[in-house]
Amino acid sequence: MLAYELEAFGFESLKLVERPEPTAGPGQVVLKMRAWSLNFRDLMIAKGQYNPKLRMPAVPLSDGVGEVVQIGPGVSRVKVGDRVAGAFMPKWIAGAITDAAGRSALGGGGPDGMLAEKVVISEEGVVHVPEHLSDTEGATLPCAAVTAWHALLGEGSLKAGDTVLVQGTGGVSIFALQLAVLNGARVIVTSSSDEKLARALKLGASDGINYKTTPKWDERVRELTGGAGVDYIVEVGGAGTLTQSMKAIKGGGQISLIGVLTGGAGQVNPLPILMRNFRVQGIFVGSREMFEAMNRAIALHKLRPVVDRVFPFKEAVEAFRYMETAAHFGKVAISA
Ligand SMILES: NC(=O)c1ccc[n+]([C@@H]2O[C@H](COP(=O)([O-])OP(=O)(O)OC[C@H]3O[C@@H](n4cnc5c(N)ncnc54)[C@H](OP(=O)(O)O)[C@@H]3O)[C@@H](O)[C@H]2O)c1
Repeated sequence: MLAYELEAFGFESLKLVERPEPTAGPGQVVLKMRAWSLNFRDLMIAKGQYNPKLRMPAVPLSDGVGEVVQIGPGVSRVKVGDRVAGAFMPKWIAGAITDAAGRSALGGGGPDGMLAEKVVISEEGVVHVPEHLSDTEGATLPCAAVTAWHALLGEGSLKAGDTVLVQGTGGVSIFALQLAVLNGARVIVTSSSDEKLARALKLGASDGINYKTTPKWDERVRELTGGAGVDYIVEVGGAGTLTQSMKAIKGGGQISLIGVLTGGAGQVNPLPILMRNFRVQGIFVGSREMFEAMNRAIALHKLRPVVDRVFPFKEAVEAFRYMETAAHFGKVAISA
């Protein structure tokens, strides 16, 4: 079977190679993969910015959907023919994250990732995908969607009438927008592109702010909320946006610290956190239990992930290059 292996850092070192057919051991299943999706993390991993000590060769990608084609002894959660996604951290089932769960994250230096024709994975680490979704739509869920769910409805307890600020229009942010709208919240979106903001409004956002032409976007957020600020911020910007987010958040609100698009290191004045009683909550994707809870909501409301572009498996490297341009809105996917 064919698989992509990262032989060195750099997209040019992502090679399609022949690997032995996997077989399912006790408690394991083999998936014949149908679709995958990319996350910003996958670009960082391939470029050596995520785990500089990554063992090579490494199979990339955390996100994929496949059909169960073989089950090992003792498997009872799934059967041959089921369509499932891998959980981002197959060992994080429920409750608080543990170090062992964190180390089980796919495609980042622990277990091999999903970008192969067949994948062997523990039965505990797979989740059925809502039936109304296409394979590529299903493949967008494990990382970005679960992260957005965790931020707003796992650690967060979003309710109708709350206001959410999402930064940018990438995978995590568009899922956060959709889930917030689904729950009756008002959504404010920032983006570098007026055209993307127009698309976000069509998805149900109430207001858009271009962070290039309105660099003091936190002031605009305050204006739009009558001076109060927002209840939740999906913070994907990191060091370069956190200080402004701390001005845009309402007293008692929650900033979910998710991404580092503008960098991970910087100076932050912690005083406003205590003076205005807001929470800065770290989010690392989520558990299988959160994935399953999210899927129930997605299935009930027939929510459809936003897939910007789908690349064929043989052109997976082009998908990495496309995503790096940040031209996308929502998710970039790969199809078998
Ligand atoms: N902690 C976790 O568990 C977790 C999980 C998933 C992702 N992440 C992190 O979250 C971030 C987003 O991931 P993703 O996969 O959603 O990425 P993505 O799809 O590549 O989204 C990137 C988008 O972010 C926006 N952006 C970039 N700089 C920005 C800024 N200064 N202010 C506001 N928006 C900005 C841009 O939107 P516009 O084009 O609209 O300007 C860009 O298109 C990454 O840092 C990733 O590593 C963390």
